[in-house]
Amino acid sequence: MKIIKNQDTLKEIIDSYKAENKTIGFVPTMGALHRGHLSLIERSTINNDVTLASIFVNPTQFNRREDLEHYPRDIEKDAEMLTSACCDLLFTPSIEDIYSKTELEQPFEFNFQGLDKVMEGVFRPNHFNGVVQIVSKLFTLVQPDKAYFGEKDFQQLAIIRLMTKTFQFSTEIVGCPIIREENGLARSSRNALLSENERKIASHIYAVLKESITFAPVTNIEELKSCTVAAIEQKPELKVEYFEIVDGNSLQPVARMEDSDYIVGCITVYCGKIRLIDNIRYK
Ligand code: PAJ
Repeated sequence: MKIIKNQDTLKEIIDSYKAENKTIGFVPTMGALHRGHLSLIERSTINNDVTLASIFVNPTQFNRREDLEHYPRDIEKDAEMLTSACCDLLFTPSIEDIYSKTELEQPFEFNFQGLDKVMEGVFRPNHFNGVVQIVSKLFTLVQPDKAYFGEKDFQQLAIIRLMTKTFQFSTEIVGCPIIREENGLARSSRNALLSENERKIASHIYAVLKESITFAPVTNIEELKSCTVAAIEQKPELKVEYFEIVDGNSLQPVARMEDSDYIVGCITVYCGKIRLIDNIRYK
């Protein structure tokens, strides 16, 4: 796998692939890779001539300085994992290579058409502006034929689809299923920050979400929400930040299960100090 550290070199390489009519699959990440990330790489290698991953811990999408500073980083291990997943290229630019001083100081603003007024958007103000800022920059550079995003970050995936449409990128956005640990916990770079005991406790989140599917047809939305939250919080270490049952396209909360054909429950739970997100499809 070839490692590229700056935009100029990347542009040359992309131009040469485009000249040969090779299709490019792109997987943007922030590193600290796990099998969830690798599932996106594997999907891309199957469907494209060339697969490019990026690792860039994007400062403009973090609300809290401590989170940015403590974000797990291990570029050597990441490069090994990408190589074993048959990734062709890795782009790991520096902050200075990506952003001008002004871009870092002035907040980027995107019109989310309401997609940012719920869930993560409420609890992480400006987070999605930072995500759109970096992903739009990367798409302009890479001009991918296909780009792969995990359904684990359900709201992010919906926002990336909107961004692609708004900026008229010709990239096809491919949503990929959540990869879980053996105990059901959704894989996440943040799981590395959990103690062994916390990992066990955190597996309770998915166990309850899965069980909630059985109750969904025989109860109403309010009850489904309150029972799910109460069941998760039976473990004193778990504190639910939000649990919303939404239309999978508009991300707006639904009042009744009959209100849409595509319904997803999105949750954020603190396990001790670690913020974990997950979701479950009801319909
Ligand atoms: P990061 O958290 O590194 O995630 C990179 C991609 O991996 C995202 O599309 C995410 O949804 C996907 N992913 C993470 N865990 C997964 C799992 N358990 N199963 C399947 N896919 C999973 O998301 C970001 O980085 C950033 O916001 C980024 C898009 C790179 C912009 O900076």
